[in-house]
Amino acid sequence: MVGAAALLSEAFLRVFGPASNLRIWRAPGRVNLIGEHTDYNLGFVLPMALELACYAATAPRSDDRLRVFSENYGEAREWPVGRLAAARPAGHWSDYLLGVARELVRAGYEVRPANLLVWSTVPPGSGLSSSAALEVSVALALLDGRPIAPLELVQLCRRAENDFVGAPCGIMDQYVAVFGQKGAAIRIDCRSLEHQPIELPAGIAVLAVNTMVKHELGHSSYPERVAQCRQAAARLGVESLRDVTLEMLEKARAELPDVVYRRARHVVTENLRVEQFMKACAEGDLATMGRLLVASHKSLRDDYEVSCDELDFLVETALGIEGVLGGRMTGGGFGGCTVNLLEAGAEDCFHREISEAYRRRFGRDCQIYPCVPAAGAGQL
Ligand code: GLA
Repeated sequence: MVGAAALLSEAFLRVFGPASNLRIWRAPGRVNLIGEHTDYNLGFVLPMALELACYAATAPRSDDRLRVFSENYGEAREWPVGRLAAARPAGHWSDYLLGVARELVRAGYEVRPANLLVWSTVPPGSGLSSSAALEVSVALALLDGRPIAPLELVQLCRRAENDFVGAPCGIMDQYVAVFGQKGAAIRIDCRSLEHQPIELPAGIAVLAVNTMVKHELGHSSYPERVAQCRQAAARLGVESLRDVTLEMLEKARAELPDVVYRRARHVVTENLRVEQFMKACAEGDLATMGRLLVASHKSLRDDYEVSCDELDFLVETALGIEGVLGGRMTGGGFGGCTVNLLEAGAEDCFHREISEAYRRRFGRDCQIYPCVPAAGAGQL
């Protein structure tokens, strides 16, 4: 990524002046192939890290300050490093960064005075995990080469988002930003926190399509879903929905409020779909892989109720295009992206047809990103 390095160095020079020992850290966004809203239920997910990434360029300062500049927002913020442990969120983009700094200090890592320039190519609000990419790249930049266990890095960044920013997300995004692998998706067991690489069969292409909308509803609905899943687990007498089988759920159906039952049914069937998808993947059964994506979408739409018109339209439309094996919403929902599985060679036609249909229906352009599994976070 020579291009990104040159761009970051140039921007850093423009904002902070010359730095002799500039270092640049990168953390990727991700697309989740299948296993949605299962991570905080300690289930299975199958994301892959992307080339789209957040970069953090850093050099030491001689005073007592941490000064950050966002190249995306064109805005700076600064804090004395001695006050980071007591930092409070401000409802601002810099909360992600400040949260990471605070968690590092709380975990016993010294945050040293530095200039930091961040620049991200992960579209915000796209469901491609721009926040985790920011958190992980910033954590690495603040550590600037001092060692940290990869899993501790993941958990620390998740705490920044859960406890500081106040978003009760699961572990998938930070995990894949750190452990992502070039050439493979990774299947994460969100309870044991172990993963294995899953190579996709030859002859397929993965494309994400961005609705370019993010409905407000999503903010309150995500914590509500987390709470409903906890309620379902408590009523079923288990620690998490990971421990629930379809049989157990059906038996308890009469005792559960319908909405809680449906939320649980999504989680239980989605965990099964991850396993079925992996099997189909190993067998090169592209048709089944595609069907599982569509089944996942329907479950998210009808049982979990986290889709929206734009996402449903993109999935429906995709299924009518030549060479499309399947598709579904990806990420938290209420806007953001769909992920689509295509036969290789069908990309151009897909691009043309889906763009035209979306513009005709919603009067705005969608954006399309080819997804190739890229490496996890590290120094550029
Ligand atoms: C967001 C969260 C993840 C995960 C997904 C839904 O991306 O950050 O932890 O819960 O939604 O699968």
